[in-house]
Amino acid sequence: MKDKTKLTVAGRPHQRPSHPVNTPVERASTYLFPTYDDYLEGAKSICYGRLGTPTHRAFEEAVTALEGGFETRLAPSGLQACTAALLAFVEAGDHVLMTDAAYDPTRKFCERFLKRFGVETTFYNPVAGEEEIAALMRPNTKVVFAESPGSLTFEVQDLPALARAAHAGGAKLVVDNTWAAGYFCKPIALGADVSLQAATKYLVGHADCLVGTLTSADEQTAQKIYYALLQLGSNVSADDAYLALRGMRTLSTRLERHQENAEDLVKWLKKRDEVARILHPAQKSCPGHAVWKRDFTGASGLFGVVLKPAPLKAVKVFFNAFKLFGIGFSWGGYESLVLPVKPEAYRTATDWKEEGPVLRIHAGLEDIEDLKTDLERAFIAMAGARK
Ligand SMILES: Cc1ncc(COP(=O)(O)O)c(C=O)c1O
Repeated sequence: MKDKTKLTVAGRPHQRPSHPVNTPVERASTYLFPTYDDYLEGAKSICYGRLGTPTHRAFEEAVTALEGGFETRLAPSGLQACTAALLAFVEAGDHVLMTDAAYDPTRKFCERFLKRFGVETTFYNPVAGEEEIAALMRPNTKVVFAESPGSLTFEVQDLPALARAAHAGGAKLVVDNTWAAGYFCKPIALGADVSLQAATKYLVGHADCLVGTLTSADEQTAQKIYYALLQLGSNVSADDAYLALRGMRTLSTRLERHQENAEDLVKWLKKRDEVARILHPAQKSCPGHAVWKRDFTGASGLFGVVLKPAPLKAVKVFFNAFKLFGIGFSWGGYESLVLPVKPEAYRTATDWKEEGPVLRIHAGLEDIEDLKTDLERAFIAMAGARK
């Protein structure tokens, strides 16, 4: 089956002669078993809310079909998917290699939390190849953590090269695959051991709940992920699992429109005098563009824009002029967003050399002409504020 078909059939109810189209929300903590033997049997599958209801299983099944892995488990947020993936494989005295362009709270988990438990982290250049990663590997390196493209700066990483270097040193390759939503990139087929997502973004797709997914390539990896989540006491509500699965049904249609709107906005922005550089994997100027062409089948709606240097007063006026683009965290919902970001505030392994302010744009599903009008309005306001 192709992805578009998987997204419509995976995780559908199939136990009864007649059934609703969608797997219903089953809210439960306690499950009751009629007999001792039923309890013993039931405890192997659906037995307690935190361990998953049929609603959770249906969403997990759909994500596994999309990512192409052995098994998917859920976390209560995208961030906890990142932190659980690290905790699953490290212990005191171990070492982690992480991309310098990782989502900042993921890197803070290493710098602040894992450090307290004796796990050291080295950050690597997001466009590092196999040799550079191999040179950074230590005998105690247990995880290479990639995020492709990188948060805020959008460098595309060479996942097969990272997988070879990680596996040669006995480490797992964990990939934050949120930007591609499991649809435009398949990290497991490229050699990753775990492909995780902040399903909060494109899978949920409507900016109304937080969920994380962790898809493992094989049974042994899946078991470690399962135990990490279990021992952390992670729980996702059945309502949120339902919303995320419902979001997935329209993922392909939404993503294609996000892609189209983002491409149009990029073309339009490139002609603007105020713009110094676009950070978008489909642009030749984007670090790792050739890898994106090789390993991805498309681009989602999130990208960066470096403006030419401008006084802070004018930048504030620019942001305040938007009527359609919302100023807000997160992305992947149906709505367009714009956010001021500061890549230089986070990086340690590589320098951020751009001088101008950086925006992160999420191209939503609105009419493209309305989006351009909104951007134009903001640029005009900014020009007025510079006079
Ligand atoms: C790439 C990436 N990974 C993980 C997360 C964390 O997701 P959540 O907000 O669901 O915890 C985010 C959130 O912005 C993200 O952008």
